[in-house]
Parts: sequence; C-alpha cells; structure tokens
Amino acid sequence: MKIVVIGGTGLIGSQVVTMLGEHGHEAVAASPSSGVNTLTGEGLANAFAGADVVVDVSNSPSFADDDVMEFFTVSTTNMLAAEKEAGVKHHVALSIVGAHLLPKSGYLRAKVAQEKLIEESGVPYSIIEATQFFEFAERIADSATVDGVVKLPHGYFQPIAAADVARVVARTAAGSPLNGRIEIAGPEAFPMDDFMRDKLARTVTTGPDAEYFGTPLEGRELAAGLDAELSSLSYDEWAARS
Ligand SMILES: NC(=O)c1ccc[n+]([C@@H]2O[C@H](COP(=O)([O-])OP(=O)(O)OC[C@H]3O[C@@H](n4cnc5c(N)ncnc54)[C@H](OP(=O)(O)O)[C@@H]3O)[C@@H](O)[C@H]2O)c1
Repeated sequence: MKIVVIGGTGLIGSQVVTMLGEHGHEAVAASPSSGVNTLTGEGLANAFAGADVVVDVSNSPSFADDDVMEFFTVSTTNMLAAEKEAGVKHHVALSIVGAHLLPKSGYLRAKVAQEKLIEESGVPYSIIEATQFFEFAERIADSATVDGVVKLPHGYFQPIAAADVARVVARTAAGSPLNGRIEIAGPEAFPMDDFMRDKLARTVTTGPDAEYFGTPLEGRELAAGLDAELSSLSYDEWAARS
C-alpha cells in the first residue's frame, strides 16, 4: 500500500515510516521540510495522489492555546478534504489518552477538536490515543520549572516508549479502519511529581495549584483505561538502553 505519513520526520513519524517500509509498504514521509504543509494545504494534493492511507503524526510547532487549536483544526480539515479528493481509504491519527477529561488544557482541547473532525468527516478512520512518551518526560519537567524547581500535580500518568507507540501506529495503518479509538499506554502509572523526582532526579514541589500544561490533574485522567493495550518496556529498562 502507499501510506503517506504526515509528520514523517518527527519522533513517531520517522519510526512509523521505517517500520512500514520494513513490512513492504510504500511509506512516504511528508512534512514542511519535504514541501507538504497541512496548515496551508501546500503539497497535499500531490502527496495524496494514489495513496491508500494517510497517517497523521504531525505536531504543532507552538503549544500556545490559539496556535495549537488552529494547527490541529485547520490541518485536519485540510487533510480530510484532500483525502476525499484523492480517494484515500483510511485516515489514522495519533491522539492522547484522557484528552477529553482535561478541557482546561488548551493542547488537549485541540486534540479533542482534531478527533471530532475526524469522526465526523465520513473518511474511514482509526484514532490511537497514547499516553505521554518517555522521551517527553524531560519536556514536561522543563515546562513546569521555575527557578530550578519543578512544580507538577500528584495525579497519575502512565508513560510509554515512543517506539512502542510507533509500532501500534504502523500496525493500525496497515490494517482495516477501526472507525473508532484504541488506547495504548506504558506498563506502569506514576504520580507525576514523584516520577520527576525519582526518575529524572529533579527538585519537585506540588500543591493544589500545580498544573500539567494548564490543567489540574487530580487522579488517573492521563492513565490507561481498562481496555487499553499496555506495552511491556518499563521506563527503567528504556532509560538503561537510551
Ligand atoms: N508527546 C507526547 O507525549 C504525546 C503523547 C501522545 C500523543 N502525542 C501526539 O503524537 C503526535 C506526534 O508527536 P511527535 O512528538 O512525534 O512530534 P514531533 O517529533 O514534534 O514531530 C512533529 C512533526 O510534525 C511536522 N509538522 C509540523 N508542522 C507541520 C505542518 N504545518 N504540516 C505538516 N507537518 C508538520 C514536523 O515536520 P518538520 O520536521 O518538517 O518540521 C514533524 O515531522 C502529535 O500529534 C502529538 O499530539 C504526543
């Protein structure tokens, strides 16, 4: 199959392209650096010509609330329109576990808006909701650091290796549309503040006003649901290899 990977130069996308290629698919990485811009629509018609599947693992360069909402809604609208024109038979997108439970986060609101556009588009689709990548943990800590101290909530998250996410994205892209969602998560859930202290050796405080990217996190909103597929690689095993 010809499978276009939007965001194919990114952390997840580059691994998805490699994995699909290893399984005999014609996997094409598409992003602004190869002349395909989903925000402006530039290059989409050419990229999608003859494609069976489009995988969207792009990300917004800016996490500011308005920027990220514009990125995911305009990009998704442009892609789905171009897919209909080109006769693409499957749209695969990567979203985030618990996004709909945390509407105070602008980033997560944008992911929910992205999912809704896909569900209502009429294009056969699969949505994969993943938890935070191990590779993203440092960025979470940095985003919540003031004067060398990380301030994060005590709510749980359940991180996963990006490679395990890429494997599920590639497998899904090569299969039939789910016309629904699946959840994937790592093997262990941790309180976010404890993780940053224990695994990243950061100085951490918490408190009722501590936020994760603009939202309180009180319980297990970002952790795997009961039906989630769990990967086996633990954070400690991953960190020892990295
Ligand atoms: N971080 C997490 O823990 C986490 C957890 C669950 C789900 N996700 C989701 O996973 C997805 C992929 O994340 P990632 O960390 O792999 O992303 P990433 O490494 O930041 O890569 C972003 C990709 O998006 C491309 N891109 C940026 N602007 C674009 C545009 N206007 N048109 C087309 N492509 C554009 C970039 O292309 P260039 O290289 O050309 O700039 C790059 O290939 C995101 O949708 C994110 O919401 C993330």
